[in-house]
Amino acid sequence: MSVTQTATASGLDGVLVAETLLSEVDGEKGRLIIGGHDVETLALNAVFEDVCALLWKGGKLPTDAERESMRKELAAARKAAFDRIAKIGDALDHEDGMDALRASVAHLSATDKDQTADFVRLTAAVAVFAAAWCRKAAGCAPIAPDLTLSHAADYYRMATGKAVDAARVRALDTYLVTVSDHGMNASTFTARVVASTASDSASSVTAAIGALKGPLHGGAPGPVLDMLDAIGKPENASKWLEAEVDAKRRIMGMGHRIYKVRDPRAAVLEKAIERMEKAGVKTDRLALARAVEKAAEEILRRKKPDHSLHANVEFYTAVVLDAAGLPRTLFSPTFGVGRVVGWCAHIAEHRAVGRLIRPASKYVGPMPS
Ligand code: ACO
Repeated sequence: MSVTQTATASGLDGVLVAETLLSEVDGEKGRLIIGGHDVETLALNAVFEDVCALLWKGGKLPTDAERESMRKELAAARKAAFDRIAKIGDALDHEDGMDALRASVAHLSATDKDQTADFVRLTAAVAVFAAAWCRKAAGCAPIAPDLTLSHAADYYRMATGKAVDAARVRALDTYLVTVSDHGMNASTFTARVVASTASDSASSVTAAIGALKGPLHGGAPGPVLDMLDAIGKPENASKWLEAEVDAKRRIMGMGHRIYKVRDPRAAVLEKAIERMEKAGVKTDRLALARAVEKAAEEILRRKKPDHSLHANVEFYTAVVLDAAGLPRTLFSPTFGVGRVVGWCAHIAEHRAVGRLIRPASKYVGPMPS
């Protein structure tokens, strides 16, 4: 096919690149459907193993027996990933958690395992390496997986070194399901581009981690917490935020390429925080976050009248993961712990299409004389 388009679409806004059964993002209505379920219903009721089964194994939520089977597969794969830590040299010694995650997953070789077994291996590895990096960064030894636990519970235990706490683990499950898939976001597209070259899944996931790291994608929640700390009290919010926008800096956790209304995942995560509070977990940042969101909306409406900028998922990610007891340096890697499920599902979906992704560019440089 020859190139007929004349205008460039540098951000690929609105360009359809795939048909997918995995998720639907309606940016006008603020609705997210994952595998046929509204994100809120799914995330407040399902656990991580459920969304793995849903997105990798035929589009249905698992039975109790299937959930248990997925739990056991992930647990065994966590043990295998943990056993590899000794062999990955200094990959986990990076100062930044996303650098460590990218380097450690890059150490995994391509395998001839069946595709779903490979997805289980990679998903387990992302959680184990993220948790091990967190421990090493705190000067502690990595904690071995507990094969009796669910994936979220074990991730919490391996990362924090604390005993499993049902309310916090429930919130973590809600978070991981909420971020498991989200249309053709930058890291998912990256995973699909690599898969489209007939490369292996570990290469796709490594590349996707690199895309997720950026602050315009998955790198925002740590800076959101820094912002809440810098603001300190609701009454400081407007002045602080206005100065940021005037200095042409972006307010982290606000704005989205697709959503022109509030990101529906923000509401789900707020509910997860409220549920933790009801279970007795103290979350002192929720009221401040709500006040900052309100002030940011008002300032952005005034200063950027041509754009519709509202809270995105990262805004309340910061609050929910902080309340769940994870350090802010682990927020972006934890996004990867959830999103790897969607990356893998998209790799499978693109493999079924089997077409190399290869867009065109328009040469505007000098011609040979
Ligand atoms: N704060 C201040 N201004 C903003 C913000 C923001 N958070 N977001 C967008 N704008 C402004 C831009 O400065 C630009 O203004 P201008 O036209 O006057 O120059 C306008 O809105 C459009 O910005 P674009 O960059 O073209 O919009 P895009 O669709 O590419 O941006 C993005 C989406 C990258 C998420 C952006 O809103 C942003 O940088 N947000 C802050 C970082 C963030 O929260 N990242 C997490 C995203 S969610 C996720 O990936 C999981």
